[in-house]
Amino acid sequence: MLSKKQALLFFLGGTIMFSIIFIALSIDTVAKGIPQHTHEENMTKAVVAGRVLWDENNCMGCHTLMGEGAYYAPELTKVYDRQGPDVIKAILTSKVPWAPHGRKMVAYGFSDQEAENLIAFFKWIGEIDLNGYPAPPPLKNKLK
Ligand code: HEC
Repeated sequence: MLSKKQALLFFLGGTIMFSIIFIALSIDTVAKGIPQHTHEENMTKAVVAGRVLWDENNCMGCHTLMGEGAYYAPELTKVYDRQGPDVIKAILTSKVPWAPHGRKMVAYGFSDQEAENLIAFFKWIGEIDLNGYPAPPPLKNKLK
């Protein structure tokens, strides 16, 4: 059992140490430049329009981007590399739910333009420097 004094020291020590680590990491992130990491110069109108569609249609209710969102459907940060623009377009413009693995993707039936905007958004997201996130699944090749 810790005495009251030891508990206080443990609390203060831990708080101070992790505050310093947090501040140092925050400075490191900002110093490296968020616009450089995100390639802000590539954020075209199509990318922004795609992002608006992403929000308006609650894609995050099922999917994640950079780990944020729901875990019902695949992570989409690298979907542009994984599936390519043609497959993504077919999924987004489809009038029937796309579900090769059982769970159903919503059949949004987007127009060509809307699909292009979402694809531009996925391409931009996929090019953000995320220090290697998401890691490739460790069992990917073993399951083949
Ligand atoms: C109700 C849940 C749900 C919502 C909402 C949803 N999706 Fe999906 N989506 C899925 C499921 C489930 C899959 C996987 C289907 C499969 O592989 O069988 C999928 C697959 C995809 C894929 C292919 C992913 C891959 O790696 O193969 C893309 C791209 C996609 N969705 C984009 C979107 C976009 C964009 C939105 C919003 C406009 C959206 N989804 C909203 C459930 C959803």
